[in-house]
Amino acid sequence: MRSSVSEPPKTANQSLVAWVEEMAALCRPEQVVWCDGSQEEYDRLCEQMVADGTLIRLNPKRRPNSFLARSHPSDVARVEDRTFICCEKADDAGPTNNWMAPEAMNALLEPKFAGSMRGRTMYVLPFSMGPVGSHISHIGVELSDSPYVVVNMRIMTRMGSRVLEALGDGEFVRCLHSVGAPLEPGQEDVAWPCQTDPRNKYIVHFPEERTIWSYGSGYGGNALLGKKCFALRIASVMARDEGWLAEHMLISGVKEPSGRRTYVAAAFPSACGKTNFAMLIPPKPFRDEGWEVTTVGDDIAWIKPGVDGRIYGINPEAGFFGVAPGTNESSNPNAMATIRENTIFTNVALTDDGDVWWEGMTDAPPKHAIDWHGNDWTPASPEKAAHPNSRFTAPLFQCPSVDPAYDDPAGVPISAFIFGGRRQTVQPLITQAVNWQFGVYNAATIGSETTAAALGAVGQVRRDPFAMLPFCGYHMGDYFGHWLHFCGSLENPPRMFTVNWFRKDAEGRYLWPGFSDNFRILEWIVRRVNGQAVAVSGTLGWKPRYDDIDWRGLDYSREQWDQAMHVERNDWLAEIASQDQLFFKLYDRLPREMTAIRDLLLAALCRMPAGRKA
Ligand code: GTP
Ligand code: SPV
Ligand code: MN
Repeated sequence: MRSSVSEPPKTANQSLVAWVEEMAALCRPEQVVWCDGSQEEYDRLCEQMVADGTLIRLNPKRRPNSFLARSHPSDVARVEDRTFICCEKADDAGPTNNWMAPEAMNALLEPKFAGSMRGRTMYVLPFSMGPVGSHISHIGVELSDSPYVVVNMRIMTRMGSRVLEALGDGEFVRCLHSVGAPLEPGQEDVAWPCQTDPRNKYIVHFPEERTIWSYGSGYGGNALLGKKCFALRIASVMARDEGWLAEHMLISGVKEPSGRRTYVAAAFPSACGKTNFAMLIPPKPFRDEGWEVTTVGDDIAWIKPGVDGRIYGINPEAGFFGVAPGTNESSNPNAMATIRENTIFTNVALTDDGDVWWEGMTDAPPKHAIDWHGNDWTPASPEKAAHPNSRFTAPLFQCPSVDPAYDDPAGVPISAFIFGGRRQTVQPLITQAVNWQFGVYNAATIGSETTAAALGAVGQVRRDPFAMLPFCGYHMGDYFGHWLHFCGSLENPPRMFTVNWFRKDAEGRYLWPGFSDNFRILEWIVRRVNGQAVAVSGTLGWKPRYDDIDWRGLDYSREQWDQAMHVERNDWLAEIASQDQLFFKLYDRLPREMTAIRDLLLAALCRMPAGRKA
């Protein structure tokens, strides 16, 4: 069957038109639709998905213009073992990525994409990662057979006709996506089409071609290709080549009572608190004085050097794809306000009054709900009502704490980098690296307990360098080298900090209250980078003393602080041995700074008498 193009392409970009035609000839959709990104188009697609059972409209009184989608149970998170970096040489992908030769991967995928969109519409989505026209932004075009992807991409990116105009005849990243579920004539569709066998999902990157091919999944980072595939895996390669940074980082601003704003960028692994930290509300005594935290982004940062010797960051995204469970009025009131309307929820529970619910949303669970599988659920049910990786998709501008410069093409100046993992033991609450090489070392060796954001076992410690383990599009050793080079080329390199909100005591209780109280640590960081806070030196680097933190409004004792900050010599010796496993893996491309700093740290730990405070 010949595909019909429902509307003629409004672009002079001949290579785009040719590529769309070529992909349509391969995937053989029933029709090709060029999306304009309008509200009208969004509303129409949502209506259509309500009619065919993909979306459920939530009660407009409780959750205006919002929808619930339930995915297939096999399609609930990123699939890291089905994610491939297909550069020419295996060595360039490195040992932390799955690699296949581009030709071999092409030969494998072409037959899968051939006819994969039969009976469906191929949507053409031109999108800008970052403010349209910013020198830090880049443009991509996604071809997808999923209307769910279209409406999510409209929230998560700047998408539509204005991007085509900005593109002109310029370069763009090619993103091809198919759920891999063609419809035979007369065949009835399902609510969430996908390839249900995980081995038939492929999230594939061709960094040298600036091309992404994603097959078989409709969920999150597997399918919204602007996000992890483009803005991290492909962009990290562009950033290496062009001298900038594409990072798994939030960006937030701290406004002091004087009006001065200091911006920080922070990398925590998936589902380890970036959204919470990005939307932090300072504790009351600080708020009363006029302190404020503003949100530029919660997941991805693109950072480029400015002409003034500083570095400037943008959030390439335009929305939040946030973890729902655990989000509530006390853990993250800004997120709760952001998702009050115009939000797409995926895999949360549906309440009897047509609203959403998830574990940790309210103190008392509803007496009855429909769980994410679509089954009846009560608090007595053994299963969770919402999937642990259930998410909300909501526009950035709806966030009450959105930063005034969130859409500024110039970006915001970044003064500090903060790194952190989820560690029940070992890692103290806060340290500052003595210099940027040490900071890179600390970031390179982040350990974190795995979460539900990726398919697989949850709660095991793995090295997640810079929170980029599943997202770096090239050799991790070269990536460390790129960071060392980038910081070294700056006149005034940013200060680097490491945090751990997740340390527990022997009874399994958190040693740190976290959430809004993280502001106390952030406030010290801000004073520190502005030359206004004291630190003392410890074995791991600089650190604040108990009296250097502002404790107003919180009952937190010196003993608790000592526990949260404790550096246990033997734990750290074991930690360094465990870090070495990553270094051995990367050895042939590991920058010498990494092993030099490891040895310095080891020497300091070995000279530390057992039992002495570090
Ligand atoms: P991705 O979107 O997957 O990249 O993750 P994210 O880093 O944005 O994760 P998010 O902020 O949504 O983290 C959610 C999880 O972190 C929930 O389980 C929260 O309860 C938990 N969390 C966030 N901040 C804190 C904190 O300060 N302390 C503790 N103990 N848990 C926290
Ligand atoms: C993450 O897993 O880090 C996410 C969610 O931010 S996803 O977009 O699915 O990758
Ligand atoms: Mn993320």
